[in-house]
Amino acid sequence: MRKILITGSQGQLGRSIKKLEPNYKETTFVYTDVDDLDITNLESVEQFIEKEQFTDIINCAAYTAVDKAEQENDLAFRINALGPENLAKASQSHHCRFIHISTDYVFDGKNHQPYIETDTTEPPSAYGKTKLEGEKLVLKQKADSIIIRTSWLYSEFGGNFLKTMMKYGQERPELKVVFDQIGTPTYAGDLAAAILEIIHKDGSEQHRGIYHFSNEGVVSWYDFAKEIMEKTHIDCKITPILSSEYPLPAPRPFYSLMNKAKIKKDFNIIIPYWKDGLRECLKALQKKKPFFK
Ligand SMILES: NC(=O)c1ccc[n+]([C@@H]2O[C@H](COP(=O)([O-])OP(=O)(O)OC[C@H]3O[C@@H](n4cnc5c(N)ncnc54)[C@H](OP(=O)(O)O)[C@@H]3O)[C@@H](O)[C@H]2O)c1
Repeated sequence: MRKILITGSQGQLGRSIKKLEPNYKETTFVYTDVDDLDITNLESVEQFIEKEQFTDIINCAAYTAVDKAEQENDLAFRINALGPENLAKASQSHHCRFIHISTDYVFDGKNHQPYIETDTTEPPSAYGKTKLEGEKLVLKQKADSIIIRTSWLYSEFGGNFLKTMMKYGQERPELKVVFDQIGTPTYAGDLAAAILEIIHKDGSEQHRGIYHFSNEGVVSWYDFAKEIMEKTHIDCKITPILSSEYPLPAPRPFYSLMNKAKIKKDFNIIIPYWKDGLRECLKALQKKKPFFK
């Protein structure tokens, strides 16, 4: 019998995990967000975890405002670095497995082939730096931990690129979207499914450390936006532009493809193609709030 703590459970990934709970009838899920369990407070974290005897902790809590992080560096560091450290410490003292989520933004984006887990990290943004510190602090605890780096996360929950494109696409005749940043969108439902599969099937203590997970395939943000308009039947012209034509406070990696061979081999999981993830997400959105007939 597993008992899993989910922190930051009101976010995209947390809510995607909750949606899959009915598939795991034998497992107890405990959902918290900042009001019930602030991961930056070590004492609260220790007390909460001591009381409940969890088998696993999934940290979905994060500071994800990439541009604002350039200004709010301290806050981002507390949530993205000290928070995971606290959870890793508590996991270690209470003998539970810790699953932490990181990002492709730990890389500088200068590669020409998909990043593997051991490639050099050099985050260009403050957000990426705080997430990298989080990874390091978790690994330093030597807890029973798995860190999953993911990229371009979207879902039917909260705010994300898909929902922004749909909103502005319905309001405006044309949107300009960058075509020189290459990566892979990840449907949070697919990431949630992979995490729960890993937790429920993995018996080997050898399979720990850093892993990469995104959907399969390669696109630019421009291609992603084009596909969104096509599949939602939104009549909006998508025009490709360079990142230099759309400056943002936080620099992004130009190339952030991740090699997923390790996670597929160690945990024997099948990763859906990005267009299949998008189709599932649009189906879920359509059910929640129909956007086309
Ligand atoms: N979104 C992406 O494109 C993306 C890409 C790559 C990797 N990731 C990583 O994937 C993970 C999941 O991302 P997501 O998009 O699901 O994030 P999200 O939607 O921003 O959710 C994060 C949740 O954590 C909560 N939180 C913030 N501070 C907290 C604290 N001190 N204690 C407890 N909870 C706290 C947030 O609450 P508030 O909303 O009230 O702040 C929010 O509910 C994160 O680790 C993120 O870095 C995301």
